[in-house]
Amino acid sequence: MSVLREDFLWGGATAANQYEGAWDVDGKGPSVSDMCTNGSHTTPKRFTPVFEEGTLYPSREATDFYHHYKEDIALAAEMGFKCFRMSINWTRIFPTGMEQEPNEAGLIFYDNVFDELKKYGIEPLVTISHYEIPYGLIVAYNGWYGREVIDCFVRYCEAIFERYQDKVKYWLTFNEINSGTMPMGALLSLGTVKGFSGPINEIPDDKQVRFQGLHHQFVASAKVIKIAHEKYPQFKMGCMCIFATKYPYTCNPDDVLKCQAEMRHMNWFTSDVHVRGEYPTYMNRFFAENDITIVKEPGDDEILKEGTVDFYTFSYYMSNCESADPNTAQAEGGNLVGGCKNPYLKASDWGWQIDPKGLRYTLNELYDRYQIPLMVVENGLGAYDKLEEDGSVHDSYRIDYLKQHIEQMIEAVKDGVDLMGYTPWGWIDVVSASTGEMAKRYGFVYVDKYDDGTGDLGRRRKDSFYWYKKVIESNGEEL
Ligand code: BG6
Repeated sequence: MSVLREDFLWGGATAANQYEGAWDVDGKGPSVSDMCTNGSHTTPKRFTPVFEEGTLYPSREATDFYHHYKEDIALAAEMGFKCFRMSINWTRIFPTGMEQEPNEAGLIFYDNVFDELKKYGIEPLVTISHYEIPYGLIVAYNGWYGREVIDCFVRYCEAIFERYQDKVKYWLTFNEINSGTMPMGALLSLGTVKGFSGPINEIPDDKQVRFQGLHHQFVASAKVIKIAHEKYPQFKMGCMCIFATKYPYTCNPDDVLKCQAEMRHMNWFTSDVHVRGEYPTYMNRFFAENDITIVKEPGDDEILKEGTVDFYTFSYYMSNCESADPNTAQAEGGNLVGGCKNPYLKASDWGWQIDPKGLRYTLNELYDRYQIPLMVVENGLGAYDKLEEDGSVHDSYRIDYLKQHIEQMIEAVKDGVDLMGYTPWGWIDVVSASTGEMAKRYGFVYVDKYDDGTGDLGRRRKDSFYWYKKVIESNGEEL
């Protein structure tokens, strides 16, 4: 007997900006991601608001879900998906973010997608904002730094809630909202890059702007959750954070305290606000020491209390260590975060340290702290795949990675964690968020698309496709 719930939400995750393509079709406006060039593990991608002739902007075509949704959903159904995590592209609905009325053609596209999912009994899990802030809002308000964006977001949510009230039950307000606590979050999450053009690692950092922008996201999230709870009682509203688990590098109390501070700042702060409905007191010291003053309007604290989430979701790829000694060797990469190398762990080709047991530890920590249902909505191995001449892809490394993480997830459930589901990232190959590459693949389904923009977009089942199908069929018993 499987220890997982009978209605466990097995599935896969995607985001419109990395998957949909059709960036200027049927009235869609440009989003921040449409203006990012490709890069690599060693060369940062660039943000260029002015189009450069001859430069590749990988999100613009991506892997073209827009024109392949029927075929892709049929593949998901063939694997037995119960749940399909996707995002709605804000600029398909409100092209600049500032219109008063939604774009009907954009709404129809998602009607079609949800109807297709329903045909196979697959539950959509919709991220409302996943690195797709309208470029119009960057120009007008410097992204989320402008308080005006709260109203634009609320208008967007009201439109999609009303339209899809009978088609979507599970919603996540912001993807990886805690990316705004890090300099890299300024671009994709907060859009506080007005006037900037260049490599994404050269975006000037301004903590005051970032944390003010984050405050506006908190208020926006709480407002729409309150609306959802009052008007659509059938909805389940969740948050989504990166969980980049950190261990003290040694048992030296200095390392332990450094690790605690980083865990709070990076992993706990945003979800404490989402789940508990107030700023945690530990942030006061950080704000004071960094000359950050959060400007709040009357009523903000009340709305945070009134708009708390029903469930908590997170992405989990890796872990790293924290050391108070600046000479400790650094890890070679990570999901938006730095940290030290863990001598007990191996890393992916992109330097992300692979740590399945860290997932069990994390699930336990989260459940102890919040006591609400949890869901792993991203996990996976970005790897180079080799397409064989016969169209097969032998990705045993991916199966190993996922198998080990699912095993630990099951251990966590045995430990008492209430886990709703699991949607590994990029179940079909999509553009990488950090590097803009196609070569960094996560999928069970291979898409014929390459870093020079070539490829016929054909879909092929990798070995992991057949493996995951059995995992779902057996509710996690057959790994
Ligand atoms: C998460 C994001 O950070 O990790 C996704 O929510 C992203 O958008 C995923 O694609 C994997 O990261 P990357 O950089 O390998 O694509």
